Amino acid sequence: MSQRSLKRKERNIFVCTACDAQHPRWEGRCPQCGEWNTIEEQEVLPDEADGHRFAALAGTSEVQNLAQIQAQEVQRRLTGLPELDRALGGGMVAGGVILIGGDPGVGKSTLLLQTVSSMASQWPVLYVTGEESAQQVALRAQRLALPTEQVHLQAEIRLEHIIATLKERRPEVVIIDSIQTLYSSQLSAAPGSVSQVRECAAQLTRIAKQYGMTMVFIGHVTKDGALAGPRVLEHIVDTVLYFEGDTHSSFRLIRAIKNRFGAINELGVFAMTDKGLRGVNNPSALFLSRHAEQVPGSCVVATLEGTRPLLVEIQALVDTAHVPNPRRLSVGLESSRLAMLLAVLHRHAGVASFDQDVFINAVGGVRISEPAADLAVLFAIVSSLTDRAVPRGLMVFGEVGLAGEIRPAPRGQERLREAAKLGFKQAVIPRANAPKTPIEGLEIIAVQRVDQAIAFIREQGSR
Ligand code: TYD
Ligand code: MG
Repeated sequence: MSQRSLKRKERNIFVCTACDAQHPRWEGRCPQCGEWNTIEEQEVLPDEADGHRFAALAGTSEVQNLAQIQAQEVQRRLTGLPELDRALGGGMVAGGVILIGGDPGVGKSTLLLQTVSSMASQWPVLYVTGEESAQQVALRAQRLALPTEQVHLQAEIRLEHIIATLKERRPEVVIIDSIQTLYSSQLSAAPGSVSQVRECAAQLTRIAKQYGMTMVFIGHVTKDGALAGPRVLEHIVDTVLYFEGDTHSSFRLIRAIKNRFGAINELGVFAMTDKGLRGVNNPSALFLSRHAEQVPGSCVVATLEGTRPLLVEIQALVDTAHVPNPRRLSVGLESSRLAMLLAVLHRHAGVASFDQDVFINAVGGVRISEPAADLAVLFAIVSSLTDRAVPRGLMVFGEVGLAGEIRPAPRGQERLREAAKLGFKQAVIPRANAPKTPIEGLEIIAVQRVDQAIAFIREQGSR
């Protein structure tokens, strides 16, 4: 970073588009990240420009006592889509800049068009479209039967023109679709290059802060899952949201991975319908596959997404391996944990699987990264291995330790209540999570060790 400020010559610098590292000369391969052919030439802005930029961002340079600063509560602007508000930590913020990333076609433009049309009745909004023509956007709004009388649209990719419009019209909510299509005539680099994306985002962010506008940048995600114009934007903006979904299913998840105005990892759930995106209030039902009969190799876990408990079915298939190195494959769960869990299962519960292929999957395309799913994975594996179904109405959670202990999971009560609400009858949970007062309709089986838990499921599974 400091390389740039040290070099005060007119010479241009060379920036890697993959890792944003800066180099004094062009190279075929970035020494920082090892990517080939990612280094681009970039103009060094004159010092004065830098000076202006920082002065504008800082506002005042006085040194103040933190205790004396009058902090105002942020002003929230509800989007009219409760699931989006949830992911944002309670709505958009005046002067807040949001980056929303996602694969092409996942529904970003649809989501934001719905958002502006519902916000337009309260705040002046501007939708800047650089990807689609005004007609295309109008056609979509028409198809979705959205109220559009108060929605203002600008089909524009020149940054200077957009900024002029913003200064003149002073909208309070601005959508930029997408940040990669914009370009500033001050830079010679092509639209979509790191320098253009960074410059456009930085200038727009400054405007947003200056006028208290809520601004949303739509950004594309590259094949390997990083936002194009990598990481450059993530620290400029206040909130980073990812919009994800399987192309095979209609469900779309939106989650915050950074939020200066709220908690992260809050999950918003939508379904893509022919009438656009619809919020899903009870997402637990999505991630449970409905078998008419209980089948072996399946177990339900109560996991936590942000602050919301979510019931997800974990499936396992254990089958005799015909190769010397049996396969271990996991979809939606951490694969490194799978190997560890199989070792714990063998060492502490005497269940061997070294000659078996083991596949595990979280139903519905959801990704679970918390260790509280461990116990459900073990149950699903044992159930598949012994070809006996886990009893109907059983839910589990709990982290499994290397010493064979079952560790508690955060917010156990909420998980239990969600399970009870959805009609589950039994819960195998860590001893430390056992509720003090019984939960109606839910039998609690509190376990401390893996062997205890496995013994329970082997005995139950037989019935
Ligand atoms: P879009 O919002 O254009 O995606 P993005 O901006 O993220 O690239 O969404 C495009 C997809 O959404 C397209 O494949 C069709 C689907 N879709 C529906 O299923 N129903 C709808 O009502 C709309 C508008 C789109
Ligand atoms: Mg789009």
